[in-house]
This record gives sequence, structure tokens and C-alpha cells, in this order.
Amino acid sequence: WATQFMGSYSMNWVAQQIVYVLRNDVFGHVLKLPQSEYHRNASGRIMSKIIFDAQQVTSAGTDAIIVIIREGLTVVGLFGFLLWQNWKLTLILVAVAPLIGLVMNITSKRFRKISRRIQSSMANITHFLGEAIEGSGEVKIFGGQKQEADRFHNVSRSFAKQNVKLNASKIASTVIVQLFVAVGIGAITYLYIHLMGEDLTVGGFLSYIAAAGMIQKPLKQLTDVNVKVQRGVTGAASLFELLDTEQEVDTGSYAVATKADGNIDFEGVTFGYDPASPVVRNLNFSIKAGETVALVGRSGAGKSTISAMLPRFFDPDQGRILLDGVPLPEYQLGELRNQIAMVSQRVVLFNDSVRNNIAYGELRSADDATIIKAAQDAHAWRFIE
Ligand SMILES: Nc1ncnc2c1ncn2[C@@H]1O[C@H](COP(=O)(O)OP(=O)(O)OP(=O)(O)O)[C@@H](O)[C@H]1O
Ligand SMILES: [Mg+2]
Repeated sequence: WATQFMGSYSMNWVAQQIVYVLRNDVFGHVLKLPQSEYHRNASGRIMSKIIFDAQQVTSAGTDAIIVIIREGLTVVGLFGFLLWQNWKLTLILVAVAPLIGLVMNITSKRFRKISRRIQSSMANITHFLGEAIEGSGEVKIFGGQKQEADRFHNVSRSFAKQNVKLNASKIASTVIVQLFVAVGIGAITYLYIHLMGEDLTVGGFLSYIAAAGMIQKPLKQLTDVNVKVQRGVTGAASLFELLDTEQEVDTGSYAVATKADGNIDFEGVTFGYDPASPVVRNLNFSIKAGETVALVGRSGAGKSTISAMLPRFFDPDQGRILLDGVPLPEYQLGELRNQIAMVSQRVVLFNDSVRNNIAYGELRSADDATIIKAAQDAHAWRFIE
């Protein structure tokens, strides 16, 4: 009992350790993705990979390994006993094995396909929740509750449906394998006795059949666990796909001595989110240090896009941008962004203390006086106090 406890406990510990490391790795990678990847991969999809897919990998890694080792050994043991009892008959029985292999192969593919669908349903759910909760104000003002509820029913139903399908396939595959084994054992033993005229003592026959029957249970467990293994495989594939996406290019080595002057030059800059249809075309302008400049234009003209190119959220397809005469890619990325402050149309408050929201990131170690001064300058100190 104690060893069983220790066994389960340590397997579980290892499993949690694996999810922990995996999640951290993936999240660390996600933090360094280029901005365009966040637009391409909806945030919900990334979240569901880190939360859901990582979990799939571990349950495959632990439960499955326990079952495979335990039941696998049982099968090997029973098979040895059968060989010892009557090797000729047993070798003929092995003829059923390719059929089992075939069933396993076909069902594995199906499991993987359904698992991928389950993953993308899960991604839809997290994506949907993110949108609806973030936009809860809009949902209420415009009376969208009914519509949101309906949309959620849809994504949620599809998730449930895929799970039911997966379980149905699992049961079907187990039943088919069992059927093959049972019919195989029966038919072959019958033929063996009748056609080959071998003598079998009643006792020998019974113990043989009993052992052959006993192999069914571990085989069932092995076919059952295949679902978990396949879910783990697709989970891992999805995580590795994310890990394989290129990170932001940060090859520059130029570091600013203290603070950049702030001369900005755009030289023949062309850029489009889809390079085939540029948002800005051959853009040239210079801003001298100390100047205050406003970009004015109709919605969608490209103002935000132009500003997003300064901290290199996006790089120009053609032309170049210089800060104090040095092209942006030559700066160390963190160093360049250190020179830039940004207040976006979207206000982000992190779920953390007021202090940590003011002294975010690099400014974390700022002392209290500096933080209070910043709050005062922003006319925010009165209500914080
Ligand atoms: N992430 C993106 N992916 C694809 N296209 C985008 C993306 N962001 C903006 N666009 C497109 O690029 C063009 C310029 O958008 P941008 O946000 O720079 O305009 P803007 O001048 O800041 O508009 P607004 O005044 O509404 O803020 C628009 O046609 C927009 O649809
Ligand atoms: Mg804008």
C-alpha cells in the first residue's frame, strides 16, 4: 500500500513538474513573439495552448505510462505462459496480432483527428470568453447578451460533441479489439484441434483457454489508454508548433549611452500587414529632437501603424527608420524600447498593486518618492492616496 502511494505520488509530482516546466517555456517564448503573431494567433488560442494542451501532454505522460508498463508486462507474462503451454497453438494465435495492429492504427489516427478538433474547440471557448468578458460593457450597452449567450452555446456544444465522439470511438475500438481476440482464440483453437488432430488433455486445454482469456483485460486497458496517448501527441504537436514560431529579431548591438536625443527619420518606408497591400507607401519625414508632432488622419489611415514601427512592433518591408541617425535594427531591442514611452488608445491595467502598475517592468525598482512624484505629475496622486 505504502509503495503504491509513493509510486502514485512520485508519478504525480513528476507530471506536475513537467506541466510546470512546459508551461513556463511556452509562456517565455510567447512573450518574445513578434506583434504580428499575436494578431495572427488570437489570444484565446494561445491561452488554451498553455492551459489545456499542456495538461493533455502530462496526462498522457503519466497515466498512460503507468498503464503501459503494468499491463504491458502482464501481457508479456501471459504470452510467455501460453508459449510454454503450447507454443504451436500460440504462434498460430499470433496471426490475430496484425488485425489488432490495424485496428489500433486506424483508431489512433481518428483519435488524433478528434483531439485536434477538441483542442480547437477549447481555443474557441477561451477566445470567446476573453472577448465577451473584456467587452462586457459593450455587450450590455448594445443589448448583446442574448447574442453572446447563443454564440457561447455553439462553441460550448461543439466541445461537448467532440468529447462524446472521442469516447464513442474509444469504446468502439476496445470492443473491436476484444472481439477479434475472442473470436480468434475460439476459431483457431477449434480448427487446431479438428484439422491437425492434436491431442489436448482437458486440463491443459482449460488452463490454456483461461490464460488466453486473461490476456483480454490488459489488452483492453492498453487499447483504452491509446486515447490518452493520442491526446498527448496532439497536445505536444500543438505546443511545439507554438515553440517553433520565430521570436522577435534582436540582432542589434548598439546601446544608447544614457538617453537618445530623439531625432526620428523615416526614409522611403513601405509597410503592409499583408505585404501585397501596403498601409504606408514610400513614406519620408523627419522629426527633430524636442519637436512635438501630431499625426492626423481619418480612421484607418495608418497613424497607429506608423507609431508601432518605432518600437519595432513591425519592421518596414522597404526603406528604413532611424533614431539619432542609427537604423532601428542596429539597436539592441530592449535598449531601443527603453527610449520610448507609449500611451495607447487601449488602457491596460495589470492585476497588481497601484505601485506596480506605475512602476511597471524596467521601473520596478524605483523608490517610493519617484513613484509618488509620477503619480502627482499625472494628477492621480489625490485618488490613490
Ligand atoms: N494587425 C493588423 N492586421 C492587419 N491589418 C491591420 C492591422 N492593424 C491595422 N490594420 C490595417 O491597417 C490600416 C491602418 O490602420 P491603423 O490602425 O494604423 O490606422 P489609424 O490611422 O491608427 O486608425 P485610427 O484612427 O482608427 O486609430 C487599416 O486599414 C487597418 O485595417
Ligand atoms: Mg490608431
